[in-house]
Amino acid sequence: MSKTIYKKIAVLTTGGDCPGLNAAIRAVVRSGIYYNLEIAGVMRGYEGLIDGNFIELSSHSVSNILQRGGTILKTARSERFKREEFRKKAYENLKEKSIDALVVLGGDGSFRGIEKFSSEYKIPAIGIPKTIDNDIYGTDYAIGFDSALNTVVQAVDKIRDTADSHNRLFFIEVMGRDAGMIAIYSGIGGGAEAILIPETQTKVEKIISILERGWERKKTSMIVIVAEGDDAGGAYDIAEKVKATFSEYDTRVSVLGHLQRGGSPTCADRVLASTLGVAAVEALLAGHTNEMVGVIGNKVVHTPFSEVVSRKKDYPSELMRIAEILSL
Ligand code: F6P
Repeated sequence: MSKTIYKKIAVLTTGGDCPGLNAAIRAVVRSGIYYNLEIAGVMRGYEGLIDGNFIELSSHSVSNILQRGGTILKTARSERFKREEFRKKAYENLKEKSIDALVVLGGDGSFRGIEKFSSEYKIPAIGIPKTIDNDIYGTDYAIGFDSALNTVVQAVDKIRDTADSHNRLFFIEVMGRDAGMIAIYSGIGGGAEAILIPETQTKVEKIISILERGWERKKTSMIVIVAEGDDAGGAYDIAEKVKATFSEYDTRVSVLGHLQRGGSPTCADRVLASTLGVAAVEALLAGHTNEMVGVIGNKVVHTPFSEVVSRKKDYPSELMRIAEILSL
């Protein structure tokens, strides 16, 4: 399989964390060892590349991490890596450690950075998509999305219990600065009355008419899922705007926050992380670079970083239609 003569590769996790990163690190390390490579881990993403913060990884170092949330390599968002002088430092550190190529677990921002670095210094790099927001072009699912969804749906179910006991209306804010994927899927999974996402214009009058319809039908609880990046504001703002004209229900707001990013990965995320970890190492060995590995329609696909960062993933508008039909 090998078209390259790499001896040593390094793996790093960048940007916000998510469940499944450890499963992916394990897959990169174990598949690298399977193909007779040495594997280094870079601590704290690009910050560790700049500071020369590397660790050696053996098969044993990744034992018993598959099921753990977070990342054993830590992660960080790096402003320094945007500057040429620090990318030069990162390159010097890689040379000093005899690292031939990189596997980067990241999102759009990280891939933009690594594409620049890889072209400047001819360091081959393959990306693996990870973000609970699932807004990366070139893959149906990013690592972490399924786990976050399951966490959110569990929370929504629990809130539904208390909402129903008190005949209350809840506005639940979920993560998604630029994308409504978590809101859409958890809204359908949690039976929300309305779902508000950044991709579409939110009309407060429309939410009010949905809630009025529920009130007339004597619904004993109602839930509105709000993606944090919605154009009408966060859950607190929207609840205030709604309450100004629709005050029939006692209303509460719940912001789920960072608990969505923690916890043990679901089996679906473990399988995805394992598949993409192996695919990334095999892509490097086959001579690929500046590409992200992803899964589309159950098949592993490679998409150039330039396309991943310049194209926008469509949001599932069909699911929004389904949610609207079912929220009667
Ligand atoms: O990009 C993933 C994400 O979870 C967003 O949905 C959210 O806005 C952001 O990370 C929060 O980032 P931080 O942990 O830096 O506050």
